[in-house]
Amino acid sequence: MALMAETQGNQSSYKKEYLFTDKDFTYLSKLAGDLAGISLSSGKRELIYGRLVKRLRALGLKDFKQYCALLRAGEEEGGDKEELTNFINSITTNVTSFFRENHHFDFMADTLLPELIHEKSEESRPRLRIWSAGCSSGKEPYSIAMVLKECIPDIERWDAKILATDLDSNILDVAKTGVYPKDHVKEISAERRKRWFQMGRGLNEGTIKVSDDVKNMVAYRQLNLTEAWPMKGSFDIIFCRNVTIYFDRDTRVTLLDRFAEYLDDDGCLFVGHSESLFGLTQRFNTVGRTIHRKIR
Ligand SMILES: C[S@@+](CC[C@H](N)C(=O)[O-])C[C@H]1O[C@@H](n2cnc3c(N)ncnc32)[C@H](O)[C@@H]1O
Repeated sequence: MALMAETQGNQSSYKKEYLFTDKDFTYLSKLAGDLAGISLSSGKRELIYGRLVKRLRALGLKDFKQYCALLRAGEEEGGDKEELTNFINSITTNVTSFFRENHHFDFMADTLLPELIHEKSEESRPRLRIWSAGCSSGKEPYSIAMVLKECIPDIERWDAKILATDLDSNILDVAKTGVYPKDHVKEISAERRKRWFQMGRGLNEGTIKVSDDVKNMVAYRQLNLTEAWPMKGSFDIIFCRNVTIYFDRDTRVTLLDRFAEYLDDDGCLFVGHSESLFGLTQRFNTVGRTIHRKIR
């Protein structure tokens, strides 16, 4: 059904299944900013309607005003936070794929990992820490794990761990299973598919599963990037790709500074194809396409 705008005084509202006024949208976009740093411009209004309409249906609500009231109640001290979580899970965008922006994985394999092997392999148990921040359904951290296994022949001797975090609790549940529809690996080379995945059989026909030794390298945690980070140690590499595009400028500036704090000297930050650091931070040198090395 086409989306029609109607006018109520000087307020436009969406006359579709549920009434969605300017006031509702203003409240929801402020909440998205406050809770997740996600910036919802007026151009996102239809998208937000489409994402949240499912919640209104599930809750049996009459309009967005009732939905906003429920969220406001959740914001109160001691209020039920469940719908706030559902709200956040509904507005996040989880698009991802295995070996997305493959030049990052090539850079890891050809440049970064040889450097790290050279620097650390004399240690009795070399420590390697990689963070996939905004990991979505896990395809990014699992791709990283596959590259580590391919490039570090004695990886079992290493204390190598990948931390994978996301705000969206539903997508983290998917990530932890490591199970995907079979066609999600069709871009991956046959060699990699054979080496790192198991085809589902019987009831699992049509799915593929990431092998256990790849899965075991990744630890998942729920983490809001705009809140405090509990991690103690530093990282050799941070991937934060296609996440900050949803944030406003100030949130991006703060985040980049925090990533620099959490990176080792010479540590590298990988960002998404449309995420420029230009004018936001001076703490990194660009060393490849959307690849940035922390300045000591
Ligand atoms: C488009 S996906 C990117 C996935 C992956 N990094 C990639 O490039 O393929 C963006 C992810 O960022 C997460 N996200 C959005 N806001 C966040 C926040 N404030 N803290 C942590 N994760 C957030 C979303 O839940 C979503 O899974």
